[in-house]
Amino acid sequence: MAILLPGGAGYIGSHTAIELLKEGKEIVIIDDFSNSNPKVLKAIKKITNRDFKFYEMDYQDKAKLEKVFQENKIDAVINFAGYKAVGESVQKPIEYYTNNVSGALVLLDTMRKYGCKKFIFSSSATVYGEPERIPITEECKTGGTTNPYGTTKLFIEQILKDCYASDPTWDICILRYFNPVGAHESGLIGEEPQGIPNNLMPYIVRVANGTLKELSVFGNDYDTKDGTGVRDYIHVVDLAKGHLKALDKINQEQKGLYIYNLGTGTGYSVLDMVKAFEKATGQKVAYKIAPRRPGDIATCYADPRKSKKRIRMGSNQNIRGYVSRFLELY
Ligand code: UD1
Repeated sequence: MAILLPGGAGYIGSHTAIELLKEGKEIVIIDDFSNSNPKVLKAIKKITNRDFKFYEMDYQDKAKLEKVFQENKIDAVINFAGYKAVGESVQKPIEYYTNNVSGALVLLDTMRKYGCKKFIFSSSATVYGEPERIPITEECKTGGTTNPYGTTKLFIEQILKDCYASDPTWDICILRYFNPVGAHESGLIGEEPQGIPNNLMPYIVRVANGTLKELSVFGNDYDTKDGTGVRDYIHVVDLAKGHLKALDKINQEQKGLYIYNLGTGTGYSVLDMVKAFEKATGQKVAYKIAPRRPGDIATCYADPRKSKKRIRMGSNQNIRGYVSRFLELY
């Protein structure tokens, strides 16, 4: 029995593929390389010394997707095939709704046809909009997303809830990621955004290595300890391990629809991140204070207690905040 990873060559998909292979699981990856690189597949094989099946295809191509289900015994699907650039989603809403929402529907419809009903979905803390309270629990209200990317996550969550309500033989786990950062410790894979990065961590890296001149810190007048935005940075390998825990959960427990925050529970400011990076690498990160970025909130971090308790995130492995984990590596 194999686990299907649409988008498995991407940033979070590739790190999860490694953890699954290391656990001895069989995987099948499909990817169209629209936001990833074929060399990642080689790196996954090199790191794990294991092989897997790969199909180069758009996951919305129903005929090809059916072939994948016919040629493999797919037991569960972890869907990483979403577009994820917030700014781009504002420019290209139709592309975002098509790829993310229609793509998920094609996937769910095909899964149902082939009797595969275990689904893990990559959602985001963005579904909480302006959070009702901090730290954010899974019970906080969702909605009020400020861009099409976030709204696709919200819509898909709703589709999954409706699927489960109509047919309780589905096993569904929605994982709400906070801010995934970092890279595999082999150094062979990591985050490789195309063009100028939008997210903080890859931007800092490019300033440190001289590709970009300086970081713009978006606002220093938020109601936070140093005025800069506070986020919950979770190491991508810890996040990847969260998917294995979620898989154990839906394999072991009664059928259901489960929702978990995947964050560390600790918030760090933009300046904390800059300082930690400088300390770990010995490299100066030039920055200037710039106006606030539209759509940003002051503070966003998880209450991770539910995932710690129910999927045992952090009990047999220590889910550290990114800053502490990063410093340990150097
Ligand atoms: C962003 C997305 C969110 C997505 C998440 C993970 C937005 C508005 N939100 O979250 O939907 O789920 O990434 O991919 O884009 N910052 C700077 N300078 C920079 C870049 C960022 O000061 O050049 C600051 C931001 O203002 C923020 C923090 O760094 O306070 C983190 O920003 P970012 O990495 O873009 O993540 P989020 O905005 O939290």
